[in-house]
Amino acid sequence: SALLVSRAGAGGGEVGSGARAVGTLALVPTMGALHHGHAQLAAAAVAENSVVVASVFVNPLQFGDATDLARYPRTTDADLALLEKVGVDFMFAPTVEQMYPTGEPMVRITAGKLGNMYEGASRPGHFDGALTVVAKLLHVGMPGRGLAAPDAAGRLPYRAYFGQKDAQQLTLVRKMVADLNFPVEIVPVPTVRDADGLASSSRNRFLSEQERESALVLSRALLLLKRRADAHEPLDIDSAVDLVRSAPGVDLDYLEVVDPATLEVRGENCQDTPFTGEALVLIAAKVGPVRLIDNMPLG
Ligand code: PAJ
Repeated sequence: SALLVSRAGAGGGEVGSGARAVGTLALVPTMGALHHGHAQLAAAAVAENSVVVASVFVNPLQFGDATDLARYPRTTDADLALLEKVGVDFMFAPTVEQMYPTGEPMVRITAGKLGNMYEGASRPGHFDGALTVVAKLLHVGMPGRGLAAPDAAGRLPYRAYFGQKDAQQLTLVRKMVADLNFPVEIVPVPTVRDADGLASSSRNRFLSEQERESALVLSRALLLLKRRADAHEPLDIDSAVDLVRSAPGVDLDYLEVVDPATLEVRGENCQDTPFTGEALVLIAAKVGPVRLIDNMPLG
């Protein structure tokens, strides 16, 4: 499998001999077309671990429609350069045949109920496909047996980094790791935004200037709700929905206030009663040709 691995950075040395935290290996799974958000995700892994592997693999299993898969941007040379700059030690960029040598796998991970909600409602099978490849990547990257024991603080020496930007994916990966006893610690990294507030995404490049302007209403609506939550005012979620719907060319799919741990819709009134506790706001909308998601922790 050495052929599958491109050396990105100067190398952190052997696991256990690096200048950084001793004896930890971090995996940063991506689909490439790397941007500023991915860079911060990888930088967090580099800062906290002795060896960092970033994977770049556009996973056919998590795409519902062949056109979306075909047009997904592929920028491998630029990805390698970015990872090297950030200090990642290895880029693992397998081909589809290398990941799925016998074709589509017969046995896969099922995301369960949460896999059919929110993003899953409009992308059937998406999370099953994403979890299946994450499971495979976690196994491919897993260090040998000598590294499997937790340290004195109980932290595992094998970690995988995921962005809060994809909140539902992060929650499902955590569930998979807990439910199926994967010996890995999942480390969340806060959402990185472009200067105008739009959450950084590989798909943003498909927005026209006008569409991008319209798309800013997503982060504006989230910030509005955050301001209300911080002030313990009623969220008045209806007004946030109206704001999003008022933007030209924005087709709102969902805007929900959910429990941050389970992503279940918060039972309490999010309209008229003062906001208390903790929540997460999830939003998804189609803007022109692009489906955008974003979210914001409250409280
Ligand atoms: P991809 O969309 O390339 O994202 C790779 C990782 O980068 C994910 O953990 C994602 O949450 C994180 N990320 C993307 N944009 C971000 C942003 N603006 N701020 C913070 N983190 C961000 O997610 C996938 O690929 C795939 O589903 C994958 C997990 C690799 C499985 O195929």
